[in-house]
Amino acid sequence: MQIHIFRDAQLAGRAAATLIAAQLLRKPDSILGLATGSTPIPAYETLIDMHQTGMLDFSQAVSFNLDEYVGISPEHPCSYHHFMQEQLFAQVNIRPENVHIPDGNAPDLTAAAKAYDAAILQAGGIDLQLLGIGRNGHIGFNEPGEHFVYGCHKVALSQSTIQANRRFFETEADVPRYAVSLGIGSIMQARQVLLVATGSDKAEAVRRALEEDVSPQWQASILRTHPDVVFLLDEAAAGKLRHRP
Ligand code: F6R
Repeated sequence: MQIHIFRDAQLAGRAAATLIAAQLLRKPDSILGLATGSTPIPAYETLIDMHQTGMLDFSQAVSFNLDEYVGISPEHPCSYHHFMQEQLFAQVNIRPENVHIPDGNAPDLTAAAKAYDAAILQAGGIDLQLLGIGRNGHIGFNEPGEHFVYGCHKVALSQSTIQANRRFFETEADVPRYAVSLGIGSIMQARQVLLVATGSDKAEAVRRALEEDVSPQWQASILRTHPDVVFLLDEAAAGKLRHRP
């Protein structure tokens, strides 16, 4: 496990982009696991810049996103399909057929989730998984609970996540109550995991993940058992750590 602490969120994001770029330069047909939310935006901006200056080529890259809300259309401005299009895909040369995002509108969500896991396996597994972290320690939308769920699945979002994501929607009532998320098993099978956490509202989740027992109540804590995980933190998110690297 590696932990790096940066002055601010912008630098943590640029560091994440640097590691993603290194992965793509080493293996142009990398399978990338991608995240949405505010945290990866500086990383995506840096990747776009690297692409537009001619340094980075996404033409052979394949992506699998972590999650999507249930019951909003891919065109909805708050859907993760829309987010990825706006924040990354439309601005780099990744092929649309190489992009995968869970279908939150599938008539049979269980079958669609199984097919999503199977597609990742068939592609050869995720080389590099980019993660943010929820204030409640979730990764993907694996919410605090009694267990770690292995495969892609439908999740009831916790009240904490609904409130945290309310900022993207007009009212709290508009925030979807369910999502489809990659499971902890699929995340743990990624060959490398990069978790980016920025801002003081993530400090407790980061401390629990790094310094308390591994527990499904703080799902990110399982990452400590991953053989190749890198935590990229800003000072604010590292603010509650008792043992700094
Ligand atoms: C997003 C995802 C979530 C977010 C987390 C943090 O695809 O899987 O786990 O990473 O909710 O969100 P932000 O970055 O908006 O604070």
